[in-house]
Amino acid sequence: MDTQAVSQSALLCRLPTAEDGPSLHHLIQQCPPLDTNSRYCNLLQCTYFARTSAIAELDGDVVGAVSGFIPPDRLDTLFIWQVAVHEQARGRRLAQQLITHILGRASSQGVRFIETTITADNGASWAMFEKLAASLNATLSSEDLFDCERHFAGHHSSETLVRIGPFIL
Ligand SMILES: CC(C)(COP(=O)(O)OP(=O)(O)OC[C@H]1O[C@@H](n2cnc3c(N)ncnc32)[C@H](O)[C@@H]1OP(=O)(O)O)[C@@H](O)C(=O)NCCC(=O)NCCS
Repeated sequence: MDTQAVSQSALLCRLPTAEDGPSLHHLIQQCPPLDTNSRYCNLLQCTYFARTSAIAELDGDVVGAVSGFIPPDRLDTLFIWQVAVHEQARGRRLAQQLITHILGRASSQGVRFIETTITADNGASWAMFEKLAASLNATLSSEDLFDCERHFAGHHSSETLVRIGPFIL
């Protein structure tokens, strides 16, 4: 399943490639409050982290993306780094579909937990991960991780660690 794209009418969920770098960078810019990363970082997400990331195309345009990785010291965990769905493509649970697409790959077989971080005021993100947990029949727990003052020197809101699992794929 790793190289197989999944298509629903005009919607396509697939592995990213290096050629997606510019589109991913543009999409993230259009999806506040996400931090924009360097173009080089986006290229790494599309290549070295491709198997734990996914791109959504609608009628050939990149309208959604999820980047993630498996932490080297916790091989049963998929850490979701960034989730972005273009405003015009929202309302069809595309983010959840992209994460489910990643979990459906052979390379995700050992994954039993999802982790991510969310700021307290990001209602859309909380709602999306709560619905994802429900769809996986798994519990969602949260704890403080990165503090506004202590870890971001006051330049970024505090980030809460969200953990979903264990689940069976
Ligand atoms: C978070 C995001 C990726 C979700 O996009 P999406 O997959 O299109 O999500 P949907 O619009 O289909 O919403 C999914 C569910 O969350 C709910 N939801 C959406 N926005 C919400 C909000 N602001 N507050 C509460 N619930 C919300 C929807 O009602 C929906 O539930 P339902 O399916 O039961 O109706 C998108 O809003 C986005 O890109 N936001 C900006 C970037 C961001 O914050 N990313 C997440 C941080 S990593």
